[in-house]
Amino acid sequence: MKEIPFGRPMLGAEERAAVAEVLSGSTLVHGPAAREFEKRFAERAGAAHAVSVSSCTAGLHLSLFVNGIGPGDEVVAPAMTHVATAHAVEHCGARPVFVDVQAESGNIDADTMASVLRDATRAVIAVHYLGLPCDMEAIERVTGGSEIFVVEDCALAVDATYDGRKAGTLGLTGCFSFYPVKHMTTLEGGMITTDDADMAEALARCRAFGYDRAVGERARPGIYDVTRLGYNYRMNEAQAAVGLAQLARLDAFQEARAENYQRLKDGLADVDEVTVFDTVRGPARSSHYCLNVVLPRDGSIDRDAVAAALKGAGIGTSVHYPRPVPLTAYYRERYGHRRGEFPVAEWLAEQTVSLPVGPHLGPDDPERIAAAVKEAIPKARCSAAVAT
Ligand SMILES: Cc1ncc(COP(=O)(O)O)c(C=O)c1O
Repeated sequence: MKEIPFGRPMLGAEERAAVAEVLSGSTLVHGPAAREFEKRFAERAGAAHAVSVSSCTAGLHLSLFVNGIGPGDEVVAPAMTHVATAHAVEHCGARPVFVDVQAESGNIDADTMASVLRDATRAVIAVHYLGLPCDMEAIERVTGGSEIFVVEDCALAVDATYDGRKAGTLGLTGCFSFYPVKHMTTLEGGMITTDDADMAEALARCRAFGYDRAVGERARPGIYDVTRLGYNYRMNEAQAAVGLAQLARLDAFQEARAENYQRLKDGLADVDEVTVFDTVRGPARSSHYCLNVVLPRDGSIDRDAVAAALKGAGIGTSVHYPRPVPLTAYYRERYGHRRGEFPVAEWLAEQTVSLPVGPHLGPDDPERIAAAVKEAIPKARCSAAVAT
């Protein structure tokens, strides 16, 4: 039986040749590949600037850090996200204020967000859940007229659009992830997009120690000053070379994702017990990161049994995300969050399974996955719920 993993990095001859070329030279950081990758990524995203970094987490942290987020500040984030979103706030010494998400999309609920805004609120992180852009108009309506800025968490949203504009150009900055199973990979890596030239400059300085001049800009080798506090969050040349090769293949990857998603969705259409999120909501268009099967809220289907049955059928799954971030042990202990505070996020954490739609799928895989889900659902019915 052929295994279908949840995700697989699409690395081939192009990426290997690109890395070999970097390794045969002597410029491993601060070099032309990173600059070229930034230029091409900015063009694709329709952003004026792109700054490469070592991960999306680094990008989120830097976006808050260069804007002066620190102790006493609050940053609003959805309860249903990767912990990286909240950690970026914590790394600044600020407080993440969690808001429940919408049942229809998994994205932050702007009306609930309005109820937590106060003087200490400095920023909102708009996480585009599974690649579907947040309701940016509603976020703008709620934060407009204040100094609150928006950072987009685009970890799963490469090429997603809102009103025809790409994710990453909808807030002050947008942060992308190139972790192995994302839309494209640099092994580990990330990118920050922004239309603000001063912001791009500050981000570029702070990702490399706060040097006043990068290596290639120094009149006298080894001589630099440090004008601000910074980190070592750089992307190296081998990663950037892989990123360039991946960008050249991205159209094909995205087409495969969209097609696999649609075929899998069609295959699940007659399974009454599952709901599938829309990939088009108003002006938002998803990047089809994966297909989330949402099981009934009453717990009548055992999610873990579904995942186990799929595993038995050779199909890899994932969960986005296994707990609402405020209910992970660290955030619970730090801020005293309790079960019941984020009912929709809690439901999604417990009752969804993420199915693969990536370009690694074979020709008949979407139908095979759909058939396996159909077979798994009746067997995963909870006996207590069946009795009622
Ligand atoms: C929404 C979200 N934000 C941030 C991250 C972190 O990305 P990275 O691993 O590149 O730091 C992830 C990782 O999956 C994510 O899903």
